[in-house]
Amino acid sequence: MTDADTTVDDIDIEALRERALTTLTTARDRTTLLTSCVDEPELTAQVSPLMSPLVWDLAHIGNQEELWLLRAVAGRDAMRPDIDGLYDAFEHPRSERPSLPLLPPAEARQYAAEVRGRVTDVLESHAFRGTRLTELGFAFGMVAQHEQQHDETMLITHQLRTGPQALTAPDPEPVPLYTGPPEVLVPGGPFTMGTSTEPWALDNEKPAHRREVAPFYIDTTPVTNGAYLAFIEDGGYDDPRWWTKEGWAHVRRNSLTAPGFWRREAGQWLRRRFGVTEVVPLDEPVVHVCWYEADAYARWAGRRLPTEAEWEKAARHDPTNDRSMRYPWGDADPAPEHANLGQRHLRPAPAGSYPAGESPLGVRQLIGDVWEWTSSDFLPYPGFKAFPYKEYSEVFFGPEYKVLRGGSFAVDEVACRGTFRNWDYPIRRQIFSGFRTARSGAV
Ligand code: AVJ
Ligand code: FE
Repeated sequence: MTDADTTVDDIDIEALRERALTTLTTARDRTTLLTSCVDEPELTAQVSPLMSPLVWDLAHIGNQEELWLLRAVAGRDAMRPDIDGLYDAFEHPRSERPSLPLLPPAEARQYAAEVRGRVTDVLESHAFRGTRLTELGFAFGMVAQHEQQHDETMLITHQLRTGPQALTAPDPEPVPLYTGPPEVLVPGGPFTMGTSTEPWALDNEKPAHRREVAPFYIDTTPVTNGAYLAFIEDGGYDDPRWWTKEGWAHVRRNSLTAPGFWRREAGQWLRRRFGVTEVVPLDEPVVHVCWYEADAYARWAGRRLPTEAEWEKAARHDPTNDRSMRYPWGDADPAPEHANLGQRHLRPAPAGSYPAGESPLGVRQLIGDVWEWTSSDFLPYPGFKAFPYKEYSEVFFGPEYKVLRGGSFAVDEVACRGTFRNWDYPIRRQIFSGFRTARSGAV
């Protein structure tokens, strides 16, 4: 090897180390914010049977980091073998977690900090070579994404809690009302779905494969509160024609009449958002709707939800060269002008925001703002291999989960790509979920 080669190699390793450390630090700063803005009793309380107490997420974040970075990567012994079971998401459903002998807040913080201190030491001398787990820093990226996903989960807990406001953030920039075309035609033909090259992509995004997609039209922006209100006011929740059998049973059983956190008072629609009640803003993407509501709205509008493949083609395909890009705007990492990500704001931005982030065909806000329901079940791609553990994706594959795409304002950029896949039950709406609609084009 020449000196020049050695230098290039050293720079690459230094860059990987730097990226791993920065991403982990960004995640921890957010975790700290989310777990220090309420008082101690709130950290151990359960605000909803759907959620863990915040103190469980905190220690679970530390425990997963210990499992993957200290034990699997660095070969260290367990620091606290006695607590592994408590923080194994499969051993205890969320509803049971408050009654477990969890580490109290101060100990949970101390544990997570101690793990992180040791991980920083490991990183200092780590070579990023030899195993698939550490190649290009994958394990560090995976752990940072895991922490950020739990940060989004904790933000959902914050949205569900009642009581005074604990978090604040500036609103997105106001934009002129969007007056562009309401939909665009995505020409038919094959495109490359998924990825085999993105170093920190998770197992369910792989491998890249060709998919045939028939021509279709897709909304240029997510469906707004104003548009959704027209469905409500047209009696959408009282008309079984728009709903699937299961969806109709669900809205009836639960007396649903509007998106989550909305209520009607003195002739006005209000919503509660992170402890503040406000008038529903008509130009903002609708959020906190379940799959059944999204699907019913689409049918009422004479349209349908896009399939997962249609969504990804709209978001990644560059028709000028038949390449699939990392993001709608290209291959560059997200910047604030591209998308509403990273909890910079505590709400979606008005429909039509982020022109710099639009796709080649002019579709806006595919990344960030709200998770978008698709019509597709969560299934493996052809050639899928669970890596590094079956419990991330494989155990969830099947028709009981629907896929969501694109990420929300609560997703950090490390856990958001044109290929990133999220999933949930069709009844769930505590998540930051919205949607856009589609229709088939002429073949
Ligand atoms: C991908 C968001 C469905 O929160 O259940 C966190 C992410 N996996 N810890 C979830 C996850 C393991 C997962 N979702
Ligand atoms: Fe987890």
